[in-house]
Amino acid sequence: MKPRHFTYVLALLGACVLFPVQAVRAESGRLLASNCFQCHGTEGRSQGGIDRLAGMGANKLIGEMKEMRAKTPGNDMMKVHARAYTDAQLNDIAAYFANVR
Ligand code: HEC
Repeated sequence: MKPRHFTYVLALLGACVLFPVQAVRAESGRLLASNCFQCHGTEGRSQGGIDRLAGMGANKLIGEMKEMRAKTPGNDMMKVHARAYTDAQLNDIAAYFANVR
């Protein structure tokens, strides 16, 4: 392999490592977050009533979800929702909403 070609291969490998992880997380976050749109507004942009999620800090959203998950007794809507996701999925959802303006 010519050195120039080797550089291309390296650049391509670098791009594969750096970018898709981000893209997959955002995509997976959006898909999961769409479950929240019905009540919290499209893309979390609630127009009033139920809390707005768009732009909420990731740590705050994750904290609230874990708090609601742990709430006892309770079988209200948010507790059920909060329990339905793994921690990894919650991270993806939170990353998605944190980046919505
Ligand atoms: C069926 C309606 C419904 C759906 C779907 C829903 N929520 Fe909620 N959510 C509510 C209601 C109602 C409240 C306020 C009452 C409460 O705290 O239980 C709330 C409260 C919250 C809060 C607390 C906000 C604050 O500032 O106190 C967060 C965070 C939240 N929801 C996140 C989510 C996420 C993330 C999803 C999707 C995975 C989701 N919700 C899906 C109805 C819903």
